[in-house]
Amino acid sequence: MSIRFNEETRQLILETRKTSYQMKIDELGYLKHLYYGPSAGTWNMDYPFRTYDRGFSGNPYDMRDNRAYSLDSMPQEYTSYGVGDFRINTITASYPDGSRCAEYRYISHEIREGKYSIPGLPSAYDNGDTVQTLVVTLGDTASNIRVRLYYGVFEEKDIITRTAEIINGGEETVWLRKAASVCLDLPFGKWDLIHFHGRHCMERQPERVPLFHGIHTISSGRGMSSHQHNPFVILCDRKTTEDSGACYGMMMMYSGNHKTEIELDQFDSVRAVMGLNDERFRWELEPGTSFFTPEVILTYADGLTEMSHNYHRIIQNNVVSSRYRNSHRPVLINNWEATYFDFTEEKLLEIAEKAADLGIELFVLDDGWFRNRNDDNAGLGDWTPDEHKLPEGLGRLIEKIKEKGLAFGLWIEPEMVSEDSDLYRAHPDWALTAPGRAPMMARNQLVLDLSRSDVRDYLFETISGLLENNDIRYIKWDFNRPLSDVYSHSISAERQGEVPHRYYLGLYELYDRLTSAFPDVLFEGCAGGGGRFDAGMLYYSPQIWCSDNTDPISRLKIQYGTSFGYPAGTVSAHVSASPNHQTGRRTTLETRGTVAMTGAFGYELDLTKLTDEECKEIKEQILRYRDVESVIREGKLYRLSGLEEGSRYFCWEYVSEDKNRCLLSIVVTDPLANGPSIHVKLKGLLPDAVYSVGGEFECPGSILMENGYTFVSLTGDYPALQIDICTVS
Ligand code: DGJ
Repeated sequence: MSIRFNEETRQLILETRKTSYQMKIDELGYLKHLYYGPSAGTWNMDYPFRTYDRGFSGNPYDMRDNRAYSLDSMPQEYTSYGVGDFRINTITASYPDGSRCAEYRYISHEIREGKYSIPGLPSAYDNGDTVQTLVVTLGDTASNIRVRLYYGVFEEKDIITRTAEIINGGEETVWLRKAASVCLDLPFGKWDLIHFHGRHCMERQPERVPLFHGIHTISSGRGMSSHQHNPFVILCDRKTTEDSGACYGMMMMYSGNHKTEIELDQFDSVRAVMGLNDERFRWELEPGTSFFTPEVILTYADGLTEMSHNYHRIIQNNVVSSRYRNSHRPVLINNWEATYFDFTEEKLLEIAEKAADLGIELFVLDDGWFRNRNDDNAGLGDWTPDEHKLPEGLGRLIEKIKEKGLAFGLWIEPEMVSEDSDLYRAHPDWALTAPGRAPMMARNQLVLDLSRSDVRDYLFETISGLLENNDIRYIKWDFNRPLSDVYSHSISAERQGEVPHRYYLGLYELYDRLTSAFPDVLFEGCAGGGGRFDAGMLYYSPQIWCSDNTDPISRLKIQYGTSFGYPAGTVSAHVSASPNHQTGRRTTLETRGTVAMTGAFGYELDLTKLTDEECKEIKEQILRYRDVESVIREGKLYRLSGLEEGSRYFCWEYVSEDKNRCLLSIVVTDPLANGPSIHVKLKGLLPDAVYSVGGEFECPGSILMENGYTFVSLTGDYPALQIDICTVS
């Protein structure tokens, strides 16, 4: 049993394999957060809380004679607002009389078998795991607003998911102005924040900072989870390393505007609140309706590696819903960096011919295949094949590619429209544009209003038509600009604050219809590279193009940051040309291959320009990838080096579930003359088993883990090496 209620102490206790989470209904009915951390067994974790008279932290009316009782210092599961807890709050609602105060107290709770789901939003699902759901209902003392807190407890996976449902049980409309998914209070300790910031071509760069007194905000208001701030944060003890130390992960399963606020308060307690970004948010909650917040996936772990493993397992098995979740992904060739917009059918077929010869399985036709699309200024929205580039049509091209033995995949950017398109001329009101204002242009395109069902129906029909009439096995779904001028022409003036969230409810609905209708199509997410790399998108597309930066040395850092929350199987990574098109850097094919073998593997360069030697090497790379693919996708990742100052190499290991096989990879970013040896201690092996190390020597797992492995001297341009380590007994 993962969830228990102790009637005597009025405690609600959630338990996973290694962790406990405790809360308590206190004497006034507030839901007090007691504990989240390593298993506490049956111990009552209320014991460390002492209350004192706290100056300038007032007392609820019912406790006016007890100055030691203050909401301002009490850890809570979901906060009240405007009634004495002055820290960051979870919810703000305004009532018809203009007041905004709210005071939520316990009404009831319920324990259910299985995992809850969230209407209209993706959420982690039960996949044969032991999962229970706790639903705690809180009610405001003065209004008829109730809040239901949902906790999904994945016992074996050490994961707790949370979401909140806000219900208007009254007779008048209420306006929601903030509705967070989760509040996590850490009353004691000294904490660092790790977050993942970035930009186009340099996504998810980890940054570790000690919390200071005040509020840290990690957010996106760009209408996408964004290149700039991933909806994933880690709070860890100052001393936490890869291998040990308290570590909390908070990951939001959402692709739109998000916000995480982390406050280190006057008493050195920490409160982390994660949810929808409230800046552009205002939701009309009509009587009898409810609002669900997106899901947040929480974990507590001992060390960063264990935390990553917890996320990798839940995402791979309970978030990604595609049938490709744990199965082979085709090695692909994408024509983008080979030709950009400048291609003919003949050129594509030449590339396909070469690809087939090398052992590549899928040909992806990227941007530029439809009418009026010779650069990125026009054409989006009409999706009719360009008769100049494809004179015999898309269907015929696909047949020719199939004749060469390759499956076919296609790029689309369905959420966008060009001003110069039949679609925009026919339906200018389908784009997000603010009345009387010239819209911001980005890549000379506008965003379609996916909050509208007519727009979604049009997109469903269009994409279904493409998939029904052509043998397309893979779709790369791109999204190349942020949302601005966010105004829907189909909803009243007062409700415009709902549009950013309604956009994502619409996108998820569209994705749901398409993936249900075409379960065999492999969808790859993309947003100008990795601008929408989040657990929400992963529910629908099992892999996401990680970055438009394909330079392997930049990718090392991007993929390193991505690996903290997201498993290798979700990371789409390609070998591209040298010199690299983004950085101009020259690297060897071996280095490019080693770095791209950290995820769904492919190529993105003009194969017709390769030398015979390079072709031979690529053939070997593909055979090698096929051999190790399942270890990379389903094994455990160990980061053996990091971004510590002075680190001159990236070294990592994938270890198969049964621990019999390990793939050790290294790329040296700063080779030294006569430098010290690169020596690493391996991790995650079977201590008692004997391993063959790259066929070079044999050694017990315990020795390799305790005494380590020394690399041969690696010199040259960013040298790389992969070593197979397999059990022999
Ligand atoms: C941005 C993507 O990230 C690229 O891979 C490519 O598909 C271009 N868009 C095409 O316009």
